[in-house]
Amino acid sequence: MTDHITQSLENRVLTLTINRPERKNALTQAMYGALADAINAANDDKAIRAIIITGEGDMFTAGNDLTDFASDSERSSGEPPVTRFLNGIRDAETPLIAAVNGPAVGVGLTMLLHCDIAYAAESANFRAPFTALGLVPEAGSSLLLPLSVGNSMANEILLAGRILTAQEALECGLVSRVVPDAGLMAAALACAEQVAAAAPTAIRRSKALIRMNRDAVKDRMEAEGKAFAEQLKSPDFAEAAAAFMQKRKPVFDD
Ligand code: COA
Repeated sequence: MTDHITQSLENRVLTLTINRPERKNALTQAMYGALADAINAANDDKAIRAIIITGEGDMFTAGNDLTDFASDSERSSGEPPVTRFLNGIRDAETPLIAAVNGPAVGVGLTMLLHCDIAYAAESANFRAPFTALGLVPEAGSSLLLPLSVGNSMANEILLAGRILTAQEALECGLVSRVVPDAGLMAAALACAEQVAAAAPTAIRRSKALIRMNRDAVKDRMEAEGKAFAEQLKSPDFAEAAAAFMQKRKPVFDD
């Protein structure tokens, strides 16, 4: 259980808000678990026709909690909540709409590749600093990001740590609309209500068709998960995590 994910249901639209502004909405295992439970439960809930994912305050999410990452590497057994979350958004039957209200880091960017529609506030930006942290891409992003934004842009983001503005994210197709900050939730809600008003069987079947041939995504997520888990145990990640906590730049061995 966590208070850091809040839920509200209005007009058949479930809004999930990442609500940990004091830590820039960084995601812990408990938060991934709460998101996964809500998204999975919606698959069997006819009262929910669309899900909005957004963040509280001035940030969408700072990605995985870096202190939680360190403890995660010591986890002994069972499917980690982060895996349940990633599989949950990959396999969700309910349309997912991201309302990116501010900077989106790491999984904040990669989760958009599993959302059916993504809107960004003007103040949003997007980055996936996996390699700077001694890590590798996750959530199928090594496959889906090049397909979404093109090879060179995906590699700038994933290898060179490029930070995209909201406008750049729009231009390369990562999001479909940029909205003034104050209007973001109203715009996302209007879109979600359009989806919710359509025939529910047709929406679910259309979503399934649009996402057919997803076995490759599943395979890639498994390969990424294995590499990611290995990198979490590497000296490079240990140095990057220590550098983050000590507020300094990491120094990697040759
Ligand atoms: N994990 C854990 N704590 C985090 C965090 C994260 N991913 N992101 C931010 N925080 C914490 C900070 O350590 C800080 O804590 P403190 O007040 O005890 O020092 C607090 O949240 C506020 O963050 P701060 O860095 O002061 O805010 P900022 O506006 O200057 O910068 C970010 C925001 C997101 C750019 C910056 O915090 C950052 O780069 N975070 C790490 C992002 C990251 O690498 N995520 C993992 C991706 S795989």
